[in-house]
Parts: sequence; structure tokens; C-alpha cells
Amino acid sequence: MRGLFSSRLGFILAAAGSAVGLGNIWGFPTQVASNGGAAFVLVYLVMTALLAYPVLVAEMLIGRYAEANPVDAYFKVSGGKPWGRVAGYWGMLTASLILSFYAIVGGWMMAYLAKYLVTIPGWNTVSTWLGSASVGRNLIFCLGFLALTATIVCGGVSQGIERWSKRLMPLLIVIIVLLIIYVATLNGAGEGWRVYWIPDFSLVFKADLIISAMGQSFFSLSLGVGTMLVYGSYISKRENLLNLGVWVVFVDVGVAILSGLLIVPAIYVAQASGIDIYQESGQLISGDGLIFTVLPALFANMGGLAIIVPIAFFALMVIAALTSSISMLEVPVSYSVEKKGLKRSLAAVSICGVIFLISSLIIFNFERMFSFMISLTTEYSQPLLGLLICIFVGWIWSRDQQLSEIKQGNPQVEDSLFWRIWPVYVKYICPLLVIMAFVHSFI
Ligand code: PHE
Repeated sequence: MRGLFSSRLGFILAAAGSAVGLGNIWGFPTQVASNGGAAFVLVYLVMTALLAYPVLVAEMLIGRYAEANPVDAYFKVSGGKPWGRVAGYWGMLTASLILSFYAIVGGWMMAYLAKYLVTIPGWNTVSTWLGSASVGRNLIFCLGFLALTATIVCGGVSQGIERWSKRLMPLLIVIIVLLIIYVATLNGAGEGWRVYWIPDFSLVFKADLIISAMGQSFFSLSLGVGTMLVYGSYISKRENLLNLGVWVVFVDVGVAILSGLLIVPAIYVAQASGIDIYQESGQLISGDGLIFTVLPALFANMGGLAIIVPIAFFALMVIAALTSSISMLEVPVSYSVEKKGLKRSLAAVSICGVIFLISSLIIFNFERMFSFMISLTTEYSQPLLGLLICIFVGWIWSRDQQLSEIKQGNPQVEDSLFWRIWPVYVKYICPLLVIMAFVHSFI
């Protein structure tokens, strides 16, 4: 028997948990800081509403209609053509490859969490080891992170994914709000709030900014790779998909904006306490320099009871990463369980084993492979898969079947503005936007 989410809230928290990840808490604020502050936020919101939300609905709709893993789902909406399956295989491969680098980063977050925890009993040598990058540490924690991911996925849809999302997502929101309040009281935070809220409108129409905002919103909503399709396939036919989609976007964007309110002021607090926040090129430090150099330097300056702050911060990162990684793993697991008849636990563990091998390869060839894997999957594969979803829904899948599926849980949809616009929109506008962005990124 296929799993189902047991409640509406369960689905919303699981899908929002997939969406809310390192992309929100790390990627979004650093993009904001280096792309004109509120101007980026504005373009991001527009991109999410105009492009990402319609694609999200399309992906969830395919999943719920087919009630199957991505490979079978695309096969079904293509009207039983064997080439339909290709999109499913490609998505599954991309989801697995994203997991292979995501688990490395998730492992770093766990290592840093442990680093601050072990200072409580005073294990300073261990703490130093945990905080310095080494192949050994990276391998161990990457494996630990994958093991946690597999453990949750082994529990199944409602007893694993849903149950843990329901526990972790509220905790994530509480931690982030408390951290925002704390950082706001520190010296220098005001400057960060100012930078965050004042848009530099000269940047709003720059192609680069629009492309970055589009990529960010695709990644952040976990689009294209089959996670939203699989989660969609576990939604009851009684639910209104359009509303569920709005909720997921709302939580995802909300947490991204909250993360900005945490990270951007924190950068300026670090500066006020004498930490260098600019790179040699004059740009604001972003990426791992920010998370593993600037912020720890800031934490070190806090002293005393403030040890709780870095613990809360890295716990937040681990939680965000974990609720996303389980959704990535669910894509190949759902396929192996349904198509190959594997037991869920065996599927989860063996797929994580293969992913760990790929992660190890990346760890051993870090300089060459890490950023390559990120751009291959998120800058190329993900937008192209988004384009494929639009092609399936706009050009291949029968309109009547779409309507009857979307009507389930939403009987009035046929007369709504949404149904008048969306089909045309997904057919012409969304593919065009993706193609334009894609062509631009090549020149
Ligand atoms: N949305 C996640 C984040 O923001 C990343 C992700 C991508 C999750 C693709 C699942 C699939 O970090």
C-alpha cells in the first residue's frame, strides 16, 4: 500500500520542510546581501509568484494524478509513451546528486553543532578538531547526516517524514525568531536592518539579478527534481492543491525573509565587533566564509552564557537541512519500493550507501568537484527539469485530465481566474521565461 499524509497540516509542514533548507537560511540572505538588498527580495517575490508557484502546482498535480513515483508518473501523463519515463529518471538522478553535496554541507552543520556542544564539558581539543576542515571529519559527518536522513525515511510517509516534519518545522521557526530578536539587540545590527530593507532599485532590472532570483526560487521550492511530485502523490484527493501550494510558498518565502533578518544584521554585528566582513575583492563575504568564519568569530566574541547562541544557530541549520534531505531521498526510495519491490528500509539504506560513495568522491576531490556538482544540478539540471514539467503539462498531458484532477478538492476551479490563466501560462510564458534565463546564463 502506498503511503499518504495523514493530514493537511502534515503535508504542508513536510513540503514546506522540503522547501525550507540551506537555500533559505544560507543561500537567500547571502544573495540579498550581495545583490542590492531589498531589490533582490522584491525580484525574488515576483519570480516566486509568476514562475515558481505555477510550476509547483503543475508538479504537485502530476504527482497526485498519477499516485506514483516520478518515473511512472511521467509515463502516465505522457499517455503511456516510454520516453515519458526519461523525465522521471533524470529528476531522480538530479535529486540524488543534489543530496550528495547537500549531505556534505549538512555534515558540516552537524560538526559545528557538535563543536559547540563539546565545549560545555570543556573538551577543547575535540572542539578544535570538529571546527577544522579535514577529510576524516567531513566523511564521518556526511555519513552521520545520511544515516539520520535514512532513519527518518525508513519510517515511511506518515510515521517518518510527516511525523518528523511536524516536530522539526515548528522548532525551526521558534529558533529563528528567538535568534533574530537576540541579534537585533547587539551593537551594529541596525546597519544590517537598514541594508536589508532599503532596495537599490538600479539593480532591479539587471538580467543577472533576475536570473539569480529565478534560480534561487526554483532551488528553494525544491522544483523539478520530483520531490514535490512525490509529496504530491501522497496528498488525499479531498485536498485543494492550489491552497496547499500557496501555503508551501508562504512558509518558504516567510522563512527566507526571516533568515535575512537574522543573517544580514549578524554580518554587521560582526563588523561592529571588529571582524572583517569583506573579501579582498571588496565584496561582502558570503558562502562558507560567512557561515564558518565570520559567524564563528562573532560567536567567539559573545562569551559566557552566549554558547547557547551558536548551538541554536547550528541546530537550526541541521534541522533545515534534514527536512530537505529526507524529501530528496524519498524520490529514489519511492521508485525502488514501487517499481523494484524493495523493502523501504532496504531501499533507503542502500541508496544512501550509493550517495555516500558519490559524496566521498566529492570530498576527496573537493576543489574540482564540489562547485561543479552544485552548478550542474542546480543551475542546469533543475531549470531544464522545470521546463520539462511545463512541456508535459502545457503540451503533452490532456487538458481534460488535468481539469478533472485539479477539480478534486476544488470543484469550483473551472470558473476561476486561475483555470483561465494557468494552462496558457504554463504552456507559453513559463517555458519562455526559463529558456530566456537559460540562454542568458550561457552568454
Ligand atoms: N529547497 C531546498 C533548500 O532550499 C533544497 C532542495 C532542492 C530540496 C531540491 C529538495 C530538492 O535548501
